[in-house]
Amino acid sequence: MAAEISADYGKVDRPLILLSVLKGSVVFATDLSRSLTIPVNFDYVAVSSYGHGTESSGHVQLLKDLTMDIEGRDVLMVEDIIDTGLTTSFLFDHVQRHRPASLKLCVLLDKTERRVKPVPIAYKGFDIPNQFVVGYGLDYDELYRNLRAVHILEGG
Ligand code: IMP
Repeated sequence: MAAEISADYGKVDRPLILLSVLKGSVVFATDLSRSLTIPVNFDYVAVSSYGHGTESSGHVQLLKDLTMDIEGRDVLMVEDIIDTGLTTSFLFDHVQRHRPASLKLCVLLDKTERRVKPVPIAYKGFDIPNQFVVGYGLDYDELYRNLRAVHILEGG
């Protein structure tokens, strides 16, 4: 994935902005960035959508906005997981309003079965079945983010 991204953005004038969605995608975005061979900038946004538990509330709220001026810049939004797609499509629209030169989406895990809102994924790691997973940045009630691998949460 990093090789593909590096090739696709190899000729852009200014560094690619890697926009990670706190907190879940930080581990993946950090690992990904270290395999990229192109200049990058980092920025972060935060939303709340899950509250507690394993079911999406469907109500998305922006908790932290961008800090960089992304107008005219190439932005790659990095997501840990897409479930219903509600969070990502909300964020995609929000970021688009800041008028980047381009905006693409990179996601590690995709639960396609659960999709309510379609989202345009440019770079995808893996499709996974409809099970709640934790680790590698992903949490259950803020726990397990530090696990090295992705695990299925029993009873989740
Ligand atoms: P969506 O809006 O339903 O697509 O949910 C996206 C967000 O819900 C992700 O960014 C995660 O924070 C969280 N999420 C969805 N599925 C899982 C999971 O299996 N484990 C941990 N978090 C999840």
